[in-house]
Amino acid sequence: MTRKNLIAGNWKMNATHLDAIQMVQKLSYRLDPDDYERVEVVVCPPFTALRSAQTVIETDHLRIRLGAQNVDWHESGAFTGEVSPVMLQKLSVSYVIVGHSERRQLFGETDEVVNKKLKAVIESGMTPILCVGETEEQRDAGDAESVVGAQVRASLAGVDPETIGRLVIAYEPIWAIGTGRTASADDAGDMCGHVRSTVGDIAGGAYESVRVLYGGSVNPGNIAGLMAKRDIDGGLVGGASLDPDTFASVIRYWV
Ligand code: 13P
Repeated sequence: MTRKNLIAGNWKMNATHLDAIQMVQKLSYRLDPDDYERVEVVVCPPFTALRSAQTVIETDHLRIRLGAQNVDWHESGAFTGEVSPVMLQKLSVSYVIVGHSERRQLFGETDEVVNKKLKAVIESGMTPILCVGETEEQRDAGDAESVVGAQVRASLAGVDPETIGRLVIAYEPIWAIGTGRTASADDAGDMCGHVRSTVGDIAGGAYESVRVLYGGSVNPGNIAGLMAKRDIDGGLVGGASLDPDTFASVIRYWV
């Protein structure tokens, strides 16, 4: 089973729609056709920049894929300030990040909410990038595997095994996000392996095809070591995705 590598830039709450046009164009100038064969390249701008990014991608026939950072699970209705799956799908969004630790910690998203969002994304024909990860306290207490395993199980509850095999799960230890402290490649590889084996427990053969990414202070200097791990299929990149030169160096990690 070959899994295509995937490197996604999560821009978080950065970049206006004007910035996004430049960022996508600059990134495309720095990538060769071969790069897209080796890695699926995804950018996840804020909602307000999706339409502009989509326009650049379609006008210039770029192979960069579009992702969103969040979604609501309802189809439509009186949910002031929220964005529905179909609104994203109509913008040619391919991936939607669900359950990012910033959503869980700052906006109170529970596993139950994450599960609803994940299912809504799948029903609209897009692919969720499900984020899981432990806090520093949980890691120090020796609970990293049990916490992450429980998040994977709860977030995927009720999803059929075949569908699970097509999903993307990002292991992002919270203590490594935006701190410059990356998990060691060995630890990251072990935890991504644990995510994969948990998928095996709940969805059998899906463990072979589900793609598992590592996220947390990924940069051009540490990506190659991470990608060398058997169970790591790519990265979810925050800060280092904001500068197109730096992000291109992450994507071209073998160079
Ligand atoms: P940083 O790469 O800035 O640590 O962010 C990681 C992240 O949260 C990606 O979703």
